[in-house]
Amino acid sequence: MQYAFILGRVYTLSVAELVEVLAQLGKTIKVVEASYEALIIETEEQLDTEKLQKQLGGVIKILRVIDIIKKREQDSINFVLQHYFKPSKLKTDFLKQKSGKLQVGVSVYLMDNQVQAFGEPKRIGMFIKRALQGGGASIRVVLPEYNALTLASVVVTKNLLLEKGAEICVLAATDHLYVAKTVRVQDFEDYGRRDYQRPIRDEKQGMIPPKVAQVMLNLAHAKTGETLLDPFCGIGTIIQEGVLLGYKVLGTDINPTAIAGCEKNLEWFRNRYKIAPGKFHAEVSDARSVSMMVQKLALIGAFKQIHGIVTEGYLGPMYGTMPKPEAMKANFQELKELYQESFKEFAKFLPQGGRVVLCIPAYKSSRTDYTFFPSLDFITALGYNVIDIIPANFAKNMPFLQLTQRKTAVYDRKDQVVAREIVVFEKQ
Ligand SMILES: C[S@@+](CC[C@H](N)C(=O)[O-])C[C@H]1O[C@@H](n2cnc3c(N)ncnc32)[C@H](O)[C@@H]1O
Repeated sequence: MQYAFILGRVYTLSVAELVEVLAQLGKTIKVVEASYEALIIETEEQLDTEKLQKQLGGVIKILRVIDIIKKREQDSINFVLQHYFKPSKLKTDFLKQKSGKLQVGVSVYLMDNQVQAFGEPKRIGMFIKRALQGGGASIRVVLPEYNALTLASVVVTKNLLLEKGAEICVLAATDHLYVAKTVRVQDFEDYGRRDYQRPIRDEKQGMIPPKVAQVMLNLAHAKTGETLLDPFCGIGTIIQEGVLLGYKVLGTDINPTAIAGCEKNLEWFRNRYKIAPGKFHAEVSDARSVSMMVQKLALIGAFKQIHGIVTEGYLGPMYGTMPKPEAMKANFQELKELYQESFKEFAKFLPQGGRVVLCIPAYKSSRTDYTFFPSLDFITALGYNVIDIIPANFAKNMPFLQLTQRKTAVYDRKDQVVAREIVVFEKQ
């Protein structure tokens, strides 16, 4: 069977996370096709989509592919689909066990930029409505806003499409179409709660969004139940997300105020999400001497072995406008010293093959251009390799990916000058 994963805005990171998580599932999975909007896979076994959707910060929806339909390049999507939506087909493949007034949504995703899809959701919606009304059903069709082709997960959830009907998605390539049905959507409300309802927030230092924390945690290649460390934990976003993913997490930070805030947040988190004792711990420590803290906790039997490190790292000052070249240079130098000392410490307790997933700053000079942190050789010289964020055999079939020269990926936001380059290191 085939599944399509609808990718988040920073699709390169979404693909990196998906490839890693699917590999960890240990099932035979083949990538069928991918674009910056969706990754389609083939697998013999059914996937636990509920669990996967919760685990994947970079995936917006999970769909089951129902049919693949050939098309000539010159044919429009609606021309190909004009006779596809028969009442019996809709009832068996898309709306099984649904009764009463049906709510059906339509989205069109592009598997190829060349495809013309303007207005197609509306036309497809008409076909569906006509077919169902012809069969005597009462139906409301939910369409993307004018100009848009897809429904946001919020819209799917708020209109109860999965409960009271379906979201029908067409994934369009130039010479074929996939018709698919949404089976899961990202729980936007819970992400919002995990981000904004915490008692303490720290806009000044910056907090990593929970979804990005999840992506980074998934890239750490650790097994459920293993222990991860965030040595620049701030107010604890990575700790919280790591625990939800099934890890034990130790967080340290040089700033006692950050740790106090972190503890408050974790108390809220423990109650809100009914977390069992012993899953996390936060302490004040300088990352440049963190092995002492790790040793101390191992001695008292709290966290015996750290299997990996996932951390946003200190990014230097947060600028509102592009800093001057001298300022960037000075920041890079300061961070180089910090990371060099910290990675020396990590080497003291990380096992061979243990990963460090780290954010480093990249200054955004235009919509697509960045000034990147200079060479990372000072870290590799300490006995680490930089891992391709997406294995080369996958990346070669995905020309749309936005990888840096050193095969890392950047998480950025429109309004921010300081973007985060996400680098995965592996201890030799
Ligand atoms: C960008 S913030 C991390 C935010 C965190 N990811 C969150 O979501 O709350 C960076 C943190 O690094 C800490 N930091 C700076 N220098 C440090 C050092 N030498 N050792 C440990 N922590 C340090 C700062 O106190 C700050 O809390």
